[in-house]
Amino acid sequence: MAKDTLTITDNRTGKTYEVPVVDDTVKAIDLRQIKVKAEDFGLMAYDPGFTNTASCKSAITFIDGERGILNYRGYPIEQLAEQGGYLETAYLLLWGELPTRAQYQEWADDITHHTFVHENVKELMAGFRYDAHPMGMLASMVAALSTFYPDAKKVRDAEIRRKQIHRLIAKIPTLAAFAYRHSMGLPYVYPDNEQGYCGNFLQMMFKTAEMKYVVSPVVARALDVLFILHADHEQNCSTSAMRGIGSSEADPYCAAAGAIGALYGPLHGGANEQVLRMLNEIGSRDKIPAFIKDVKENRNVRLMGFGHRVYKNYDPRAKIIKKMADQVFEVTGRNPMLDIALELERIALEDEYFVSRKLYPNVDFYSGLIYQALKFPVDLFPVLFAIPRMSGWLAQWQEMLEDREQKISRPRQVYTGLERRDYVPAHRRQ
Ligand code: ACO
Repeated sequence: MAKDTLTITDNRTGKTYEVPVVDDTVKAIDLRQIKVKAEDFGLMAYDPGFTNTASCKSAITFIDGERGILNYRGYPIEQLAEQGGYLETAYLLLWGELPTRAQYQEWADDITHHTFVHENVKELMAGFRYDAHPMGMLASMVAALSTFYPDAKKVRDAEIRRKQIHRLIAKIPTLAAFAYRHSMGLPYVYPDNEQGYCGNFLQMMFKTAEMKYVVSPVVARALDVLFILHADHEQNCSTSAMRGIGSSEADPYCAAAGAIGALYGPLHGGANEQVLRMLNEIGSRDKIPAFIKDVKENRNVRLMGFGHRVYKNYDPRAKIIKKMADQVFEVTGRNPMLDIALELERIALEDEYFVSRKLYPNVDFYSGLIYQALKFPVDLFPVLFAIPRMSGWLAQWQEMLEDREQKISRPRQVYTGLERRDYVPAHRRQ
């Protein structure tokens, strides 16, 4: 008779063990009983990069990598991108349901009323060099917010948590825009609470001498869609960092600063910046075959914006972005890099190297082209990823804190170093 268990035979001892199977998983701790000698530590699972380890139960984001499905709280990403807005998506991720009209009004008000930052933030910002990377500035400034809100330490208090969630989602565009203005030597533009989330961000970025910055609705909508697509992606590198840091009950500013650091890497959210640099380096369509050859022969060169740990068929976000690119370019003019990107994609998708490894364009392959057309500098691309991902990080952080099965994040290791040995005084060392 079928049973929801797994029977393991340890061929070292001939003993068998039966462990429960729940949700297609076995508990790694159930392996610990498997020992050769009573004094052994017991069997562990070894999984560098966590390629097959579930670190939590989560009801936020569902991904089916083989079928190219991405749902937030059950809603397909395609529907949210087409019909929804970023702020209501953030609400959905955090609180589990799409807001009613009244709930949305309150939520939008809460976010709008927290967009200003303490004046001291400007002084901290002034300490950065003129050419500081905005992602480094953003991580530092988000961590610095921790010192402004000492109450945030009370992470077990749901009301206090809610306040920090409002602050972080509201202030991250302000910090991002200030980082940009600092690097340009431009005066900071304060939030305009009459604008929507994206409109306000655009005016803080690009306003110059005009009395009121007029936001293009097409540009604001494009940014809103990009923010929806980037809002959450279950247990990726930066989210795991957020949960990992948060599991020690650090305040959410410090945890989010760590998550921004994880996102900054070129294999994660830094990839959109690298895609643009790569396209610039390639320069023209005739250089693509030589570049592809280089990728295939040189282990250190990657086709940035291709491949994904989870998606092995296609990345649904990349499809939506590619479609949206045409609408944006109608307003902004066509990005000349698009032709190189399209040709690169065409050649790669026919090449056995990429096909056999199931490497397809990911979310970052086309997003950079749109950001560039919207006049965002390349350095700012990972920052544009961090702004909307803040809502996902916070949703995951909150879920982790409310999950009674969670503990401080503390993996084990397989020790491969030397056995115990005695200290040798300096004069006797060789
Ligand atoms: N270009 C060339 N080869 C690649 C690429 C790439 N972009 N991605 C993977 N490969 C190759 C690897 O060399 C490896 O080849 P091998 O089997 O001969 O050794 C094989 O494909 C499997 O790759 P892994 O690195 O094992 O796959 P993993 O799941 O660990 O990595 C990752 C996923 C990090 C996204 C990888 O595909 C990559 O580096 N892509 C480029 C960077 C990028 O675009 N990152 C953004 C991801 S989306 C996001 O974070 C928002």
